[in-house]
Amino acid sequence: MWAALLPIGRDAATGGYHRFAWTPAELDCRAWFLGEAAGRGMELEQDRNGNLFAWWNPAGAAPGLPGGAGVVTGSHLDSVPGGGAFDGPLGVVSALAAIDLMRARDVRPVRAIGVAVFAEEEGARFGVACLGSRLLTGAIDPRRARDLRDAGGIGFGEALARDDGGWAAGSTLRPGGLDPAAIGRDEELLSRIGCFVELHVEQGRAMDAPVGVASAIWPHGRWRFDFAGHGNHAGTTRLGDRRDPMLPFAHTVIEARAAAERHDSLATVGKVTVVPGGVNAIPSRVTAWLDARGPDDRAVRRTVEEIGRAAELAAEDHGVTVRLGEESYTAVVAFNTALRDRLADVIASAGSARPPVLPTGAGHDAGILSAHLPTAMLFVRNPTGVSHAPEEHAEVADCLAGVEALAAVLQDLACDESPEQAHYG
Ligand code: GLV
Ligand code: MN
Ligand code: MN
Repeated sequence: MWAALLPIGRDAATGGYHRFAWTPAELDCRAWFLGEAAGRGMELEQDRNGNLFAWWNPAGAAPGLPGGAGVVTGSHLDSVPGGGAFDGPLGVVSALAAIDLMRARDVRPVRAIGVAVFAEEEGARFGVACLGSRLLTGAIDPRRARDLRDAGGIGFGEALARDDGGWAAGSTLRPGGLDPAAIGRDEELLSRIGCFVELHVEQGRAMDAPVGVASAIWPHGRWRFDFAGHGNHAGTTRLGDRRDPMLPFAHTVIEARAAAERHDSLATVGKVTVVPGGVNAIPSRVTAWLDARGPDDRAVRRTVEEIGRAAELAAEDHGVTVRLGEESYTAVVAFNTALRDRLADVIASAGSARPPVLPTGAGHDAGILSAHLPTAMLFVRNPTGVSHAPEEHAEVADCLAGVEALAAVLQDLACDESPEQAHYG
């Protein structure tokens, strides 16, 4: 599977991946997924919000029928700009490999097993992370989602509706061709998801074991700063006459670091656009995006408040205006403890050491879903500790341990005939 997936959207010079949602590279990844799932005889589905699902359901289980709601795993195939190979795809490849393993072992699930590919998890194109899972669960207003625009001015609704023709061999689904008016919370699909388990590459240096289990996700969000000044000539405008938005922007970046240090939080300015972007022109506008995270909501809120105040003061000093807007916020996520402990027990009794239980500062669709249904995560060791960059890595032996762990967990959950309410207690 990796041999087919790895070349898609890879920058030959840097080794980084560029797979923004609904761009050709990401559509090729989706086609790859549908081909793999169709080849396994799985039932394919694209939901109203552009998320993909492939179902293995040998017992014909469904809500209201024996078996009830399904056990869903999976992750995402989009990437940040210049991202690594594993963030997202590891969860999808491992899900398919775990199903292969279960079939080879003649496991017969009584519940359906679904593999999900969530849309726009990174928010790299339209700005809101986990957009597909937010829409599915109603965590974002569909009107707001429809109006999101990418850097080229293309609307999210437009991208969803665009139908560029056929997809994978063996699949009747088409990329796009969706009705933007129909996006939003999908009760019927949610009723078919009994629980969600996402396997993901670990993204820091927090774990020294092949496989771990998530306890929590730090609260995190994105904010946008618009500094507006006065464009002018770099050679003829005296310093005292300038209204240069680059200066309060620069001050804000330094203050972001200082505020994060004061609150034991994290603050990153990783994206900035400068208008008009000429070497010999004082900018008229600077737009910057702040990513802030922390151990609790209060730390994140105070960090952002202090950065916002610093930006206002610096803007005033330079005769510039600044507007600050929140683009997304995800409060602290504590994963279902019964399900988390059940995963750790199953992995330990499948022959591995008991997996460590750890929190993460990275956001995931599992975090969005956890507000609506029992949700858990498995992490696979990342020896570099680097993520959202080409050096992100996982050793084959650890990936295989992840597949074994996921197969054991899916078998345990999908072969369990106990009623839904007793399922995770
Ligand atoms: C997603 O990977 C995020 O944490 O931003
Ligand atoms: Mn990511
Ligand atoms: Mn991810």
